[in-house]
Amino acid sequence: MDGNGRWAERKGLPRLEGHRRGARSVDVVVTACRELNIPHLTLYAFSSENWGRPKDEVDGLMELLSIYLRKEKKKLLDNGIRLNPIGEIERLPDWVNGLLEEVIEDSAHNNDMVLNIALSYSGREELARAARLICRAVSRGDLEPEEIDFNALNDNLYTSGQPDPDLLIRTGGEQRVSNFLLWQLAYTELYFTKTLWPDFRKKELFRALDVFESRDRRFGLVGTQVRND
Ligand code: FPP
Repeated sequence: MDGNGRWAERKGLPRLEGHRRGARSVDVVVTACRELNIPHLTLYAFSSENWGRPKDEVDGLMELLSIYLRKEKKKLLDNGIRLNPIGEIERLPDWVNGLLEEVIEDSAHNNDMVLNIALSYSGREELARAARLICRAVSRGDLEPEEIDFNALNDNLYTSGQPDPDLLIRTGGEQRVSNFLLWQLAYTELYFTKTLWPDFRKKELFRALDVFESRDRRFGLVGTQVRND
């Protein structure tokens, strides 16, 4: 969800205004994805590196997240959406974590859509954490080193049990993945748009989905093996 800061700067507004308007795009996109019956949506809201931003901005983002959780909780619950934060959420302030825990618990039985929100997230740290969990299982004697395979890694990620993403959308014009879902993106289609996140609304989402539909996905095979035409 890149480009909030630039959106604000171009309008001569404080950066936080861009994040505020970006939170509205979050609501629009979550609602649209639910209407489209998209079963999993992951939003990159705050990276581990983002802790290094000026304190005012970090505090403002925590405040916006808590406003979003309070405001949208009922909508998430009414629409069968399960909230699943991914990342080192223990690093978030206690008052944000308290709210998160409340929504996680209340939405735990929803299964129409999983909304992963990446918070204090780093793809590299997620992989290091998976390695730690696997090592512990080996030292307990629950796993043999020879059994460490693709599935063992998958099972120890924050996204365990979920399919890999089909599509990654990055707004704001940069063409990089910035430490996001490094393992899970192996065969994900990448879509980059110059549209800044606060301007990313339904029309932009549909455009990205149209482009995705036109992609030829082969997963390392040849076309005739993956197409049934
Ligand atoms: C990147 O834009 C965006 C962020 C670091 C924060 C994203 C946060 C929100 C969309 C609002 C709150 C989130 C939720 C889930 C309610 P940037 O600041 O790096 O933009 P720039 O590249 O233009 O400076």
